[in-house]
Amino acid sequence: MVELSKFTSFFVANWKLNGSFAFINNYLDPLNNEKFIKKCVVLCPPSPYLYYIKDLSKNSFIGSQDCSYFEEGPYTGEISTKILSDLKIDFCIVGHSERRKYFEETNSTIKEKASKLIENEIIPIICVGETLEEKNNNLTNKVIKKQIEECMPKSAKSDNAIIAYEPVWAIGTGLTPTLNEIENSHKYIRQLNNEFIKFNILYGGSVNIKNSKQILEIEDVNGALIGGASLKIEDFIKIISNSS
Ligand code: 13P
Repeated sequence: MVELSKFTSFFVANWKLNGSFAFINNYLDPLNNEKFIKKCVVLCPPSPYLYYIKDLSKNSFIGSQDCSYFEEGPYTGEISTKILSDLKIDFCIVGHSERRKYFEETNSTIKEKASKLIENEIIPIICVGETLEEKNNNLTNKVIKKQIEECMPKSAKSDNAIIAYEPVWAIGTGLTPTLNEIENSHKYIRQLNNEFIKFNILYGGSVNIKNSKQILEIEDVNGALIGGASLKIEDFIKIISNSS
């Protein structure tokens, strides 16, 4: 399992449903020439490319965008944590709001997935965050609390799991919470449970080269989960190298 304590910050590229062999080769050329000290870089491509990238990438870890909560058997189309472990995949995003929205993912299946990942020594990146309507109704903390309580398995500890705060309304919109709001949400998550004091908590939602430095300077932000801006390798490298 990746030793999370060796790193001071985390940069997770969630490519979502994007990529091709040509894209990957263009991406890895500049990335493989970078040296990241104490910065943990994780690439999450669409699943069919996992093994190819694992083989070619020199300085990044590889993560899956999802996994099955079934272990094995007649579950067409699924990818188990055992298979991910066989491929030596180190991280896996679970509970992303796009999976909650389009694929009816629930807190209880997210918890099952996170638990199976931990059993297989893969680090789950467990996503939580409120919708715009919930934010406007002052429900942000309530939503985060419920999601955290229902998604985090008992086995999740600071050395085997990561939390990502991704407000749904900030994803892919160019909108972000204020720095204060991000700080408050991360602080709020930290005080929910004694164990969370030591957790790495990432921020995600419209992180780009313009706003990343300030966001990553917030005390309780330990890294970023990046969608759109991670598809441009020059931007992704700048985001990583601009952060202290
Ligand atoms: P964007 O960076 O495109 O807003 O996406 C964020 C995200 O969903 C990362 O998981």
